[in-house]
Amino acid sequence: MKSNHAIGILAEHLRYHQYPSSYLEELRRHLQLDYTSQQLTTVQQSLLQQCLYLLTKQAPVEYIVGSALFNNQRFLVTREVLIPRFDTEKLFRDSLQTIQKLPQPSAIIDIGTGSGILAICLAKSVSPLHSLHAVDISSAALTLAQLNAQKHSVTDRITFHLADTYPLSSKTNSPLIPHEDTLVIVSNPPYLRNTINHSLPTSVTVYEPSVALFESLNFITKLHYYLTTLLQNNKTIFVHLEYANEDNTVVFLTLSGQEAVNFLNDRMSSLSSPAS
Ligand SMILES: C[S@@+](CC[C@H](N)C(=O)[O-])C[C@H]1O[C@@H](n2cnc3c(N)ncnc32)[C@H](O)[C@@H]1O
Repeated sequence: MKSNHAIGILAEHLRYHQYPSSYLEELRRHLQLDYTSQQLTTVQQSLLQQCLYLLTKQAPVEYIVGSALFNNQRFLVTREVLIPRFDTEKLFRDSLQTIQKLPQPSAIIDIGTGSGILAICLAKSVSPLHSLHAVDISSAALTLAQLNAQKHSVTDRITFHLADTYPLSSKTNSPLIPHEDTLVIVSNPPYLRNTINHSLPTSVTVYEPSVALFESLNFITKLHYYLTTLLQNNKTIFVHLEYANEDNTVVFLTLSGQEAVNFLNDRMSSLSSPAS
């Protein structure tokens, strides 16, 4: 088969299976196809067959090609992590704005880092005097975040923590209290309610990890505990959260530490009440 013919077939498959046409460029790049009549190599032919099969199964193109763009930069993605969403760029911009006004050094903690996009983009944008921490409960996600940090040359700027919700001090195994006076918590936590599971597209429910999607009382309770501990240690805290309203529209919250504690209190009672 010729390269330009293969591109035509991919375009047809994308249309038929209702993918945005913009994905053609990603697939073309992945298969190293060009608009010439060059014959495909055996490897390209077998990759093409694999892509066509995965498209019929509604697999997200980002998982097929193994990468995604965030903030105009390319990150590796696997099925162990959430595919970066365009919306989350606002979370990055909001937190960056806060950090740029802070005294140096401050500490920045990305909770639920997934592919590492937020911690890595921040590491590339803020003063090297700030310390950065990235936390995830999934070891597969954390390994990928570390690979992405390597790819973006910021490995030495970020401390990665495999932990449930908050980083632990390696010496005491208790919540990490950074030595800096000012802290910024950035998080795009799992926030979808299980009850809306049925209304999500297959590309999300079948392919994306549920630990990255669905809100859990455990996460909120522990985040509440961590923020309270930090406040008790006289830290000044700024919290940037990506969350969902009652009607599941995404909201971006910029909160002081105490406001975040109050917000999490409300969230905990709504999740633990029998009506929710
Ligand atoms: C919505 S994803 C966000 C990923 C990434 N920050 C982004 O914006 O694309 C949430 C992440 O939180 C992680 N997570 C879920 N529960 C957690 C917990 N209890 N402690 C730490 N991380 C958790 C998931 O593994 C997932 O990587």
